[in-house]
Amino acid sequence: MLVLIPRLLDPDQTARCREVLERTAWVDGRTTAGAQSALAKHNLQVPETAPEARELGEIILQALGVSETFVSAAQPLKVFPPLFNRYDEGMRFDPHVDNAIRFSKTAGVRYRTDVSATLFLSDGSDYDGGELVIQDAYGEHQVKGDAGDLVIYPSTSLHRVEPVTRGRRWASFFWIQSMVRDDGRRALLYELDMSIGQARQALGDRDPAVLGLTASYHNLLRMWAEV
Ligand code: NI
Repeated sequence: MLVLIPRLLDPDQTARCREVLERTAWVDGRTTAGAQSALAKHNLQVPETAPEARELGEIILQALGVSETFVSAAQPLKVFPPLFNRYDEGMRFDPHVDNAIRFSKTAGVRYRTDVSATLFLSDGSDYDGGELVIQDAYGEHQVKGDAGDLVIYPSTSLHRVEPVTRGRRWASFFWIQSMVRDDGRRALLYELDMSIGQARQALGDRDPAVLGLTASYHNLLRMWAEV
């Protein structure tokens, strides 16, 4: 399930990110890629252990924690400390699947990557090309958000970043180990949660149908969640 969360960061927060990133030292993105994806990857990255990554990562983690849509769609158990990348003209990331397990040098722990996330730090009009293209059973989905927008998608998906042909594309990227490993189950819980929200609006919180659906939601989560 692909979910776009507009304005996860507000304009002040994205401006702060850009200001810090523009005076940060960047390295070849292949430093964090596996052997196979290193061949596909042509971009720049902030080193994982850079203090700038940690400072900006905190802003993002805090915003994720208060986003009801993110929490409902991702069911996060733990979030990989956010990383930052940049695509200048001619840069791209060819089709690949993200590694299943990632070790964070800063957190000192392993993460199973269930959900992949891209947080756009440029407006879509700032550059040409650079679309994030995600493949699933329904075909290909092109995503190009504005600064502050977050997209999350199953880490099982093949995906790529199209070549940037004008301007620069700035973003943060990270992974989520979810309490609900299976994407189909996460999608079902998310859709049920959305429907319960609509039912609460229409019927009120004390309506027996609302109470029953809410009980089923929590009982499914109890059945499937690993914490
Ligand atoms: Ni990737």
